[in-house]
Amino acid sequence: MDVRLIGVPMDLGSDRRGVDMGPSAIRYAGLATAVETADHTCVDAGNLPVPGPETRDSASGEYGDRAKFLAETREVCTTLSDAVQDTLADGQFPLVLGGDHSIAIGSLGGAARDRDIGLVWFDAHGDYNTPSTTPTGNVHGMSLAATLGVDEFVGHDWARSGIDPANTVLVGVRSLDGDERDALAASEVTVYTMSDVDERGVPAVADEAFDIATDARDGFHVSLDMDFLDPDEAPGVGTPVRGGVTYREAHAAMEGVADHRDDLVSLEVVEVNPILDDHNRTAELAVELVASALGKRIL
Ligand code: ARG
Ligand code: MN
Ligand code: MN
Ligand code: MN
Repeated sequence: MDVRLIGVPMDLGSDRRGVDMGPSAIRYAGLATAVETADHTCVDAGNLPVPGPETRDSASGEYGDRAKFLAETREVCTTLSDAVQDTLADGQFPLVLGGDHSIAIGSLGGAARDRDIGLVWFDAHGDYNTPSTTPTGNVHGMSLAATLGVDEFVGHDWARSGIDPANTVLVGVRSLDGDERDALAASEVTVYTMSDVDERGVPAVADEAFDIATDARDGFHVSLDMDFLDPDEAPGVGTPVRGGVTYREAHAAMEGVADHRDDLVSLEVVEVNPILDDHNRTAELAVELVASALGKRIL
């Protein structure tokens, strides 16, 4: 297939500056070549414009500092949503490079426009906070709730993807805030924690996740937060949490994505922060995982 790279140097949704350099770090780690090695063509659409935090007021949005830079996040995600929709309309495959995880609102806005898709979200976190539950005000911890349009995000049509929570799956979770935990438990989202991974193994858990997500009529989107992995493997992330999946487990999960790639609508990789990294190894790992997800095999 024809893969189109869309870089989103977004850091407004998180406290750690440096995640805006994620798209460059991933490209520098050889993404285009890796995509071609997986037998696809690759065109790089460059980066979308993202305003710098210095030039804006963090309390610009409707919820002030309870959802920082929400007005700017809306701008960026609206542009991204159009870029993803245009890519799909041109018959290409959108591969979105973050940037922090707030950009999922834009990726999904495009991928789910006029399509009924499911969602598999690999993450240490739930990203299911809202302006009233967030401990940080960072929108990257709210993007799943925003795209599903829950609680204070009701009425924020720019953020709502229309994805059915019943076709939405979190995998790898090991850090939830108190109210976020309750909200997720009350939702229809399926949550596979690291305990599930311990008990059943990545292939079984991931396969169940794909089955749930591909129940949607038009396929599914994969959102890969690099903090899904253990920080020993992926130190270059802003919110690392111990006890994540290993290098090999992450590959197994992405090989599962490839097994379902007839249904795969779009893919994004987020939260690579080269400033916090050990050389560029988290970006290099992101490249390897994308290649696995797009069908690269050892044999
Ligand atoms: N739960 C924390 C918060 O709401 C951390 C979220 C981390 N999210 C991420 N995409 N890395 O701020
Ligand atoms: Mn995370
Ligand atoms: Mn299956
Ligand atoms: Mn995340």
